[in-house]
Amino acid sequence: MTDATTRGTDAVEAPPAAARLPKRRAMASLRLLCALLCLLRHLAASHAASRDTVTPGSPLTANETLVSGGDGNFAMGFFTPPGANSTYLGVWYNKVSLRTVVWVANREAPIAGAVEDNPGATLSVSAGGTLAIAAGNGTVVWSVQPAARLANPAAQILDNGNLVLADGVGGAVAWEGFDYPTDTMLPEMKIGIDYVKRKNRTLTSWKSPSDPSPGPVAMVMDTNGDPQVFIWNGGEKVWRSGPWDGVQFTGVPDTATYSGFTFSFINNAQEVTYSFQVHNASIISHLGVVSTGNYGLLQRSTWVESAGTWNLYWYAPKDQCDAVSPCGPNGVCDTNNLPVCSCLRGFTPKTPAAWALRDGRDGCVRSTPLDCRNGTDGFAKVRHAKVPDTERSVVDMSLTLDQCRAACLRNCSCTAYASANVSAGGRGIGDGTGCVMWTTGLTDLRVYPDFGQDLYVRLAAADLELASKSRRAPIIIAVGASVSALVLLLAVAGLLIWSRRKRLRRTAGSSKWSGSRSTGRRYEGSSHDDDLELPIFDLGTIAAATDGFSINNKLGEGGFGPVYKGKLEDGMEIAVKTLSKTSAQGLDEFKNEVLLIAKLQHRNLVRLLGCSISGQERMLVYEYMENKSLDYFLFEKANVVLDWQVRYHIIEGITRGLLYLHQDSRYRIIHRDLKAANVLLDKEMTPKISDFGMARIFGNEETEINTRKVVGTYGYMSPEYAMDGIFSVKSDVFSYGVLLLEIVSGRRNRGVYSYSNNQSLLGHAWSLWNEEKSIELADERMGGSFNSDEVLKCIRVGLLCVQENPDDRPLMSQVQCSSFQDSEVQEYEGVYFKWVHVVDEIITKV
Ligand SMILES: *[C@@H]1O[C@H](CO)[C@@H](O)[C@H](O)[C@H]1NC(C)=O
Ligand SMILES: *[C@@H]1O[C@H](CO)[C@@H](O)[C@H](O)[C@H]1NC(C)=O
Ligand SMILES: *[C@@H]1O[C@H](CO)[C@@H](O)[C@H](O)[C@H]1NC(C)=O
Ligand SMILES: *[C@@H]1O[C@H](CO)[C@@H](O)[C@H](O)[C@H]1NC(C)=O
Ligand SMILES: *[C@@H]1O[C@H](CO)[C@@H](O)[C@H](O)[C@H]1NC(C)=O
Ligand SMILES: *[C@@H]1O[C@H](CO)[C@@H](O)[C@H](O)[C@H]1NC(C)=O
Ligand SMILES: *[C@@H]1O[C@H](CO)[C@@H](O)[C@H](O)[C@H]1NC(C)=O
Ligand SMILES: *[C@@H]1O[C@H](CO)[C@@H](O)[C@H](O)[C@H]1NC(C)=O
Repeated sequence: MTDATTRGTDAVEAPPAAARLPKRRAMASLRLLCALLCLLRHLAASHAASRDTVTPGSPLTANETLVSGGDGNFAMGFFTPPGANSTYLGVWYNKVSLRTVVWVANREAPIAGAVEDNPGATLSVSAGGTLAIAAGNGTVVWSVQPAARLANPAAQILDNGNLVLADGVGGAVAWEGFDYPTDTMLPEMKIGIDYVKRKNRTLTSWKSPSDPSPGPVAMVMDTNGDPQVFIWNGGEKVWRSGPWDGVQFTGVPDTATYSGFTFSFINNAQEVTYSFQVHNASIISHLGVVSTGNYGLLQRSTWVESAGTWNLYWYAPKDQCDAVSPCGPNGVCDTNNLPVCSCLRGFTPKTPAAWALRDGRDGCVRSTPLDCRNGTDGFAKVRHAKVPDTERSVVDMSLTLDQCRAACLRNCSCTAYASANVSAGGRGIGDGTGCVMWTTGLTDLRVYPDFGQDLYVRLAAADLELASKSRRAPIIIAVGASVSALVLLLAVAGLLIWSRRKRLRRTAGSSKWSGSRSTGRRYEGSSHDDDLELPIFDLGTIAAATDGFSINNKLGEGGFGPVYKGKLEDGMEIAVKTLSKTSAQGLDEFKNEVLLIAKLQHRNLVRLLGCSISGQERMLVYEYMENKSLDYFLFEKANVVLDWQVRYHIIEGITRGLLYLHQDSRYRIIHRDLKAANVLLDKEMTPKISDFGMARIFGNEETEINTRKVVGTYGYMSPEYAMDGIFSVKSDVFSYGVLLLEIVSGRRNRGVYSYSNNQSLLGHAWSLWNEEKSIELADERMGGSFNSDEVLKCIRVGLLCVQENPDDRPLMSQVQCSSFQDSEVQEYEGVYFKWVHVVDEIITKV
């Protein structure tokens, strides 16, 4: 317990390596612990004469074990750890078949020799109340003395594992073991500071499985600023819990999933403590610090009687972002980003060279200095944050969040603020109460996909300008702190993207440190932020990568200009889509595409790596696709024929990609120009949907949009869109149907839609279907080697999707389950026959 004190507070940031702690290792350490525990030999196994109290005149000897009264949960006696040759007095679980020691009295003062060789060792209470452990030769190795003489001293092991020295059984407690925890935190035990009793309770690991003396790993309550729990390993902080946000530690995301536990955090003038309880006494669970190899871990283990083992319930540190400040001051760690570190909005990497090597520890510096006196500073919200280190922050529980904001603005050294108690409003939904203000760099900030609280970071007006528009998030949903409300909020956030588009203009102007991909990453908050920033490549970098836009590197002509292949300095292959100045794709479409794709992450969507804006020149930088586009394989490359397996693989990929766009991503996105030329293929022939220049985001209520500007490609356009300019997800479904039939047949669809005309692929497919000869639609070049069930299924789905009436076309979610899982196909028969009916009508009309 002492070593953490001497380590001092000059916290050294943990090297990233320490954080890359694989779960495997945590498991191994648990196994190690279990092995150790089960190997523990105890001397007095006899529970026959079990008592729970030591009184003057009846000491505990080495051949005896005390068992707590009540449920008999804990036992206390002398033991020798495996591989050791010394004897300790300890407390272990009485009902756990693996001997698991949870407390050791004389961890630093063992009795020499194993317990078998120490029959004379005793724990005794003197008449005055001194509790002492003595070796057989009479030497006292450990003792505690009550402040005042006890009239009727008794040392008792309680049913919660606490050894208490009291004046009479059940009387006033003079001393208790829970004030001196070793490496294990039991329910009801409090970790932290008790100002009244002047106790500072910490956990400290054993030095090794055979040595209970204090090891390098400690769990310590830090009361500076807003209190937090730290795990130390040697001289380093390796994990920070973050402050208690009124409900849980802001850095322990999975707390909510702990059913059966209650966690309490008390922070007042008497104490700053953390404790937990289990609701059902039959649940045996503890928190412990363990040292394994170079790693220090805090882990919660729960006993599984049926398996006879301890189950690892939770542990920390867990991932790269759990290290203490891997991204330095003003950096943000997000395990969903690669690299994990990025800068907060309004900040740029302090040492780009180190960032390029993915060492973010130097952190980030402000792009625009704050202008406090001018009163123009404002705040950018970071959602789902494990708030920065609060060691030097200031807390005022009397303020509301609005008052907090005002207080922060008033104080020129305030850099950020957050609610100190979210339980009043609920994480990220209501405002909460209380005020935490930071006056230093924001260190050790990380974000989670769907946990954590809102943090407001102070920015200069210049960095804020565009962000402020999105600040007014619709936080009107006072449905309580429910998760569903949070989900709703995320959905609504989709609507806000429009207002954020302007941000890009700024991004475009600030490309001074642009260069390689890794330096280019800025904090975006991935899926849960307010704004968007993409790496900006400067023209020079792209020119170098493409050999000065050499004709040899030209891949083809995109919708708006030539596409080039390139190779970055680090060997990464890229495709550069240039947008010719005269092209129809204006700045709006460009921004649209950049913002959209940057937000979308799916293996069947092409990945945007960055963009370049230089005067009139605009370019998009994508991952390079070895196998060009699908139309090339289907319609142009005569000497290579895609076999059915590959075609089916491509169909499945397109289906998943489109389903993601329509339904599974955070936004509802209509692509509007789905066609073979916009399906790119990587070297595994995995399809990736590209070209989002015309994509539109749908609001929640909108189901269709009417546009005067009809864009798209004839042959793929649905009739209602081509004729009336109405588009909806069902227009994409139409294009998808056409694409399906094209892939099956290897023929291009031409013309808008004319079911009666056999020259059109759709008409042809329909005739064949009517004549029950659908299989003839299959590309002859496959030479008949295909799975005809799959082919027919795809034709059927294709036809379903190209029905005239949008309402009759399935949604992608229905396609997903109907088309590729045989058992489901029949369900949509009804829809199909409705189509037949409709088409009949059309045919008769024509
Ligand atoms: C409590 O102990 C820990 C480690 O021993 C130390 O770092 C911390 O400063 C102590 N806290 C107080 C309030 O004394
Ligand atoms: C334990 O040992 C002590 C002395 O060594 C002896 O007096 C006592 O009877 C023993 N008790 C049991 C339960 O074996
Ligand atoms: C008595 O036991 C203690 C603890 O094991 C040991 O340190 C000490 O040397 C022993 N004294 C004698 C005289 O044997
Ligand atoms: C254990 O310690 C005792 C007393 O210190 C000593 O006599 C004995 O030889 C030791 N045994 C081993 C195996 O080291
Ligand atoms: C506690 O858990 C045990 C075992 O799971 C169960 O049988 C018992 O009903 C539970 N008790 C309460 C009060 O929930
Ligand atoms: C206040 O801000 C404005 C706009 O940023 C700037 O022009 C002006 O010089 C600033 N005034 C002071 C006193 O800094
Ligand atoms: C601003 O906050 C810092 C840190 O809490 C404090 O020391 C300072 O006195 C405050 N300044 C003003 C003007 O309130
Ligand atoms: C936090 O807010 C909740 C709900 O308003 C309240 O019950 C609780 O006491 C508050 N905690 C603190 C420490 O103020």
